[in-house]
Amino acid sequence: MTRHATITGVGSSLPPRLVPNTWFESRMDTSDEWIRERTGIEARHFADEGTLTSDLAVEAARAALDTAGIPAEQIEMIVCASVTGDVPFPATAVFVQQKLGLSCPAFDVNAACAGFSYGLATATAFVQAGMADTVMLIGAETFSRILDFTDRQTAILFGDGAGATVIQASDRAGIEGTVLGADGRAAEILLMPGGGSREPATAATVAADRHRIRMPNGREVFKRAVTEMSAACRQVLEKNGHAPEDVDLLIPHQANARIMVAVAERLGIPMERAVVDVAEVGNTSAASIPIALDRAYRAGRMHEGDLVLFTSFGAGLTWGATVMRWTLPAPVEAAS
Ligand code: ACO
Repeated sequence: MTRHATITGVGSSLPPRLVPNTWFESRMDTSDEWIRERTGIEARHFADEGTLTSDLAVEAARAALDTAGIPAEQIEMIVCASVTGDVPFPATAVFVQQKLGLSCPAFDVNAACAGFSYGLATATAFVQAGMADTVMLIGAETFSRILDFTDRQTAILFGDGAGATVIQASDRAGIEGTVLGADGRAAEILLMPGGGSREPATAATVAADRHRIRMPNGREVFKRAVTEMSAACRQVLEKNGHAPEDVDLLIPHQANARIMVAVAERLGIPMERAVVDVAEVGNTSAASIPIALDRAYRAGRMHEGDLVLFTSFGAGLTWGATVMRWTLPAPVEAAS
């Protein structure tokens, strides 16, 4: 009998400090109006000094355990998708493991904003292969720590937060399939250049601000995001015997409202069936899909049996799409 995997718990965590677009107006040549119109973002959350990526991850994980109704001890593996971990190494997942008081395997996945898709494929494969019954998959980021507050193209886009999902073995076919893609030829259009073997951290790299996000061609990132996410969605739907009109809920990576509208348009999915959560969250990279998922779930937008389509795109370039049959009943407070 085929072993299936499904999502049995969801949770998220946003740091309390909400930073509106107007905060940027005194720091760079931008405006609330420009940011809203070009991105759909109205505000984002920034973690206070001393709040670590793993702190947000643990909070999201605990909320996901609550929805799943299982104790932390049942987790057999932790996968954390992040590019803004507590330290360059070891993995943020090990700090999460320690804070949850566990001793299970724990590792990170680095696929930038596509990290949740790569993590979901990884977690699903471990469950389907019988190597684990219960995996905690977290997307967690503190992008505020690597933003260049003199660069108006990038500083206004990102926020901090974490989203978590419990992935468990199931006799119902929840997660049906994932497709993943990457194009390393375009690695230079979105990266943090300093701190690795190419440019090890020195006083000079710090002075030259090489340890911050760089996106020399935002327009190209925009175009590739639309092309690759819509193609990945088509592929994963076709592979699993579905058409775009079968999709009940599209949950795309929350980068920019215009990107999401363009992807939905290309697929022919009406916006009422898409989750757009970017207004008060911003782009939280690998955390964006599980945060949007958790908020949609708690708002009563996810129904048992719905066909749900996730799609992501990020630095690398990397991208992915997953189709699943939602198996979790709506939360009591949303259903009533
Ligand atoms: N405020 C005011 N003006 C700005 C700002 C800003 N924050 N940022 C750029 N501009 C200016 C530009 O300098 C340019 O001015 P110019 O015409 O005088 O040269 C003008 O606005 C138009 O610039 P474009 O780059 O063409 O603007 P665009 O509409 O493409 O929006 C943006 C820029 C928001 C960065 C867009 O390209 C985008 O969202 N790209 C995708 C980037 C992204 O999401 N990256 C995140 C990681 S990957 C991912 O998550 C998908």
